[in-house]
Amino acid sequence: MKGDRSLGRFETVLDTIGDTPLIRLNRVTDDARTPVWIKVESFNPGGSVKDRIGLAIIEAAEREGRLAPGGTVVEGTAGNTGVGLAIAAAVKGYRCVFAIPEKMSAEKIRMVKAYGAEVVVTPTGVGPDDPEYYGNVARRIAEETPGAVLADQFFNPVNPEAHYETTGPEIWDQTDGQVTHLVAAPATGGTISGAARFLKERNPDLQVVAGDPVGSIFAGYFATGEKGGGAPYKVEGVGNDKIPSTLDFDVIDEFMKVSDRDAFHMARRLTREEGLFAGGSSGLIVHVAVELARRVDDPTSCIVCLLTDTGERYLTKLYNDEWMRENQMLPSTPATAAALLEQKRAAGAPDLIAVAPSDPVSRGLELIDEHHVSQMPVIDNGNSIGAVTEAKLMAAVIRRPEQLGEPIGSLAGAPFPAVPPDADPTRLTHELSRESSAVLVADATGILGVLTRYDLFQHMLSSGEVRSGG
Ligand SMILES: Cc1ncc(COP(=O)(O)O)c(C=O)c1O
Repeated sequence: MKGDRSLGRFETVLDTIGDTPLIRLNRVTDDARTPVWIKVESFNPGGSVKDRIGLAIIEAAEREGRLAPGGTVVEGTAGNTGVGLAIAAAVKGYRCVFAIPEKMSAEKIRMVKAYGAEVVVTPTGVGPDDPEYYGNVARRIAEETPGAVLADQFFNPVNPEAHYETTGPEIWDQTDGQVTHLVAAPATGGTISGAARFLKERNPDLQVVAGDPVGSIFAGYFATGEKGGGAPYKVEGVGNDKIPSTLDFDVIDEFMKVSDRDAFHMARRLTREEGLFAGGSSGLIVHVAVELARRVDDPTSCIVCLLTDTGERYLTKLYNDEWMRENQMLPSTPATAAALLEQKRAAGAPDLIAVAPSDPVSRGLELIDEHHVSQMPVIDNGNSIGAVTEAKLMAAVIRRPEQLGEPIGSLAGAPFPAVPPDADPTRLTHELSRESSAVLVADATGILGVLTRYDLFQHMLSSGEVRSGG
């Protein structure tokens, strides 16, 4: 019995690399009318897009006689290429040695070691000319190790070639040739250059948009031809402080800069709203794809972007609220319902604006006018029994003015849902993104206050989770 892909039967795990799914994004696109599809490279056995080049680079070295049984594979990597190389080396019986900058997550370093690789951790923040730079450390190890090959992903033409032969054709087939825009984020540039070259050969009008972290030199170089200085940034696996030969600027039409904060917040949204467990660079890519989708604003277009690695590699970082707070990516105090009420109180708002069912409608309209609110709960002996809105009260009084003097209870609608003081933003978003435009915050002592969609939006603005103006 031999392997048979059509039956899902494979000779080795290496045969499962590629043919990753293309999934529509439904919620993180918010109101954009242009369809956005994501190619989920975390379905590769090593969990990232780099599995494609790991195997290709090793097979090329074997074909060219540079790698023989008992040989060693060496590379400077952010981690994912290390995993891709380590999987192929594990199956083929080669030793691996990787130089990995200390900036990279512990999960990545532990993972390549799990596949049997040896790791040399190098300092972050040293430039490409420094002997301690991870690329230079790897080059030195390869030169000093008999039978070793340097994968050299930033200068190895096999890298973009692998995406020209696999990623590009898969996207073309999976979209029936309908793809109009490709969005990715380069590090070596192999993914975006190889895939774009293939797709542009079939559709010269295809637009290629590259995302670039604030701090990387690519976007500036694309705009001016000047290699800027670069600055540190937290997103891993994308951007660069040097220009690799594997990045073909000629197939890229535009660069968009993205902050760590926007990248990490979109990665968390992908996981929580699409169920796609994503790393920070995927958040960066999807942030660009959604901005582009809004700008293109055309339901007949088709944007394809990439989820380049799994979020599992970042549990101690972007998925760790403490780490996010330490790095000013999340508000210092967790935004519970009680904290938002406190913010309202600090801004001078009274704790609770409410009416009793027997109060006249006029009393309700007075309170609405005095406190500039548009709704409030109806509370009877401490119990929330309904809610009234300005719109409904106004309409009733216009229809029958004498109703101003009648009990407001008769115009009440369903009570606002109640949440406990420690309700977190996810719970508040859930409650306030449905029918009800307000919630009651209550505990065993009673009703503590009201939070509206406006209050939550104000908080999201102040914590940078959303930006005014789209
Ligand atoms: C998570 C992640 N995203 C994106 C990329 C960029 O891919 P490429 O090197 O093909 O430009 C990498 C590359 O290491 C990566 O690790």
